[in-house]
Amino acid sequence: MSEVEKYIKSIPDFPKPGIIFRDVTSVTEDPEGMKLAIDEMDKLLEGVDYDVIAGAESRGFIFGAPLAYKNGKGLVLVRKKGKLPRETVEMSYDLEYGQATIEIHKDSIKPGEKVVLVDDLIATGGTIEAAAKLIESLGGIVVKMVFLIELSDLKGRERLSKYDVASVVKFE
Ligand code: PRP
Ligand code: HPA
Repeated sequence: MSEVEKYIKSIPDFPKPGIIFRDVTSVTEDPEGMKLAIDEMDKLLEGVDYDVIAGAESRGFIFGAPLAYKNGKGLVLVRKKGKLPRETVEMSYDLEYGQATIEIHKDSIKPGEKVVLVDDLIATGGTIEAAAKLIESLGGIVVKMVFLIELSDLKGRERLSKYDVASVVKFE
């Protein structure tokens, strides 16, 4: 397991009783934690052939942006409904606790483009699966999904078995 694990605080019963919330702010607020997180996510991209990074709002932007910058790629914003100004495609999905709809601009992905999806955390995999479906609906190819944290018990990896899923830190 990566050294970055020590920067992740675990908060019991947030946002609902019975959920242990793995908090990424304790990583981003620490210069060493932030550096480790980006460097180790970046290592998961070594040897991957891709055109663009797509990040899931909002915590996916925190990690997607420096990875895109570091690798000379653009960053596509997968946003919560109602935030993007131009024509979009949208998808609704269930979260570990709740429901949401995400969107991307219709012209943000070109047919045949190879896309790496980035988020801070995979729980059920619902968010990133919806993001992947949006990208695929525009003709994009999801070549990899990269997360800082994976909540293994929630079996997102199984749900996403057709994709190449990689994470830095796993929690049971
Ligand atoms: C969290 C997290 C992932 C998603 C993981 O985002 O950042 O995007 O949930 O859950 P899943 O694998 O079950 O879909 P959230 O929707 O809370 O939004 P935020 O990043 O804006 O806080
Ligand atoms: N931590 C942070 N974000 C989350 C979690 C969690 O445990 N579960 C779903 N989104």
